[in-house]
Amino acid sequence: MSVSDSGSATYSEALEGSNAKRGLWSSRLAFILAATGSAVGLGNIWKFPYITGENGGGAFVLVYLLCIAAVGLPIMMAEVLIGRRGGHSPVQSLRLIAERDRLKPAWRMVGAVGVLAGFLILSFYSVIGGWAVSYVGTAASGQLVGQSAEAVGAIFSNLLGDPLTLLLWHTVFMALVMFVVAKGVRAGLERAVSILMPGLFVLLLIAVGYAMTSGEFGRAVSFLFQPDFSKLSTSGILVALGHAFFTLSLGMAVMMAYGSYLPKNVSIAKTSMAVSVIDTGVALLAGLAIFPIVFANGLEPGAGPGLIFQTLPLAFGQMPMGSLFGTLFFVLLIFAAWTSGISLLEPIVEWLEERKGMNRTASTLGAGVVCWALGIASILSLNLWSDFAPLGSIAMFEGKTIFDLLDFFTANILLPLGGLLVAVFAGWVMSREAVEKELALSGPMFRLWYLTIRYFTPVAVAAVFIYNLM
Ligand code: PHE
Repeated sequence: MSVSDSGSATYSEALEGSNAKRGLWSSRLAFILAATGSAVGLGNIWKFPYITGENGGGAFVLVYLLCIAAVGLPIMMAEVLIGRRGGHSPVQSLRLIAERDRLKPAWRMVGAVGVLAGFLILSFYSVIGGWAVSYVGTAASGQLVGQSAEAVGAIFSNLLGDPLTLLLWHTVFMALVMFVVAKGVRAGLERAVSILMPGLFVLLLIAVGYAMTSGEFGRAVSFLFQPDFSKLSTSGILVALGHAFFTLSLGMAVMMAYGSYLPKNVSIAKTSMAVSVIDTGVALLAGLAIFPIVFANGLEPGAGPGLIFQTLPLAFGQMPMGSLFGTLFFVLLIFAAWTSGISLLEPIVEWLEERKGMNRTASTLGAGVVCWALGIASILSLNLWSDFAPLGSIAMFEGKTIFDLLDFFTANILLPLGGLLVAVFAGWVMSREAVEKELALSGPMFRLWYLTIRYFTPVAVAAVFIYNLM
């Protein structure tokens, strides 16, 4: 995908360019950067801590880590290998390498799921990205310095209560994403990831350092890493599974698209592992930065989507040079969200280009504006429509606003469904030979992956689905 057949500096050109100059290492690095740029985002820093808080901590974290290792990583490998094998856009690749002719049309569904998921996710992702944009100003203006937990909480509730301000920042974030997708200047941005990601890592470490010295670090560590299964519900398991897909950007063919630019001699297993480890590391660091502050200030771990915006600003307000670190942190968070946002919009734009024959600017504008408009429903769910639960009569959706429903439906239904299709495709539709050749793993490792992708992953995803629907 990406990589626009139009667009000036495309990712593929960048890959080839860097190949010629610096050999294969840099192209492996380029893939890791692009994939990490997509994977690391609001999912790690905003969503992971708050769903962990809502689902009781340790047991949820353990299930989430298992889902990453036993479901997410094998599916990421499958996506990348399908992409590299096919060497085209996801839908095209699937069509080309499906060995059984009569099944071919079924695999278009993967593309359709991806387009729909990207569309729905970006609509609310951009609203949260807007919160981050707004907090750059809050931190830079020194408003957080020395504030109490109540005051920091009030800053956040004032933001949520103000639809016009939310709309402004949502618009800014969406415009940033649309600009890059329309211009196809992703190569530059992906290079920027190599500086910005480590920067984000360092700032998270600073926040963790502060939390260690000033927060209730011990309590946070036991909250995150001591599983208490009595606190985990079946719906918590679904949330953990869904989040594994969301945080690794799986189930919507993003990694498939990136995989089509991966040179043949690069190990798919190692690169996928690198991306998963970095992604998980960022999420765990965010948890370690946030929960000590939650406990030290008597805040509620299950406070919901506002959790990081009520805790990190408190820490930045109290540490030396906090305004500077706070501003930097939110700028880096915007970058992390930006690179993820781009990977959400790109598949839709490509689909419009391929299917509807629209040019890149028009497709970006069209898709972006519709996504932006849908975002307004999420904005209103935070204030004027906060009591409106469209599916409230169904027990499972009781009290869920439009924003909650969008989040639930995409992360917990659409992405796992897309992932399930990918697993079945790699495990049952492609020839074993092709898969084996593409992965180039040792015998036992290959057999382990193959068994996982053929049996374990589809059964696990289906079981969690069925269990939750019943
Ligand atoms: N992985 C991104 C995050 O954690 C979100 C995302 C999901 C991006 C699906 C692309 C596809 O923020």
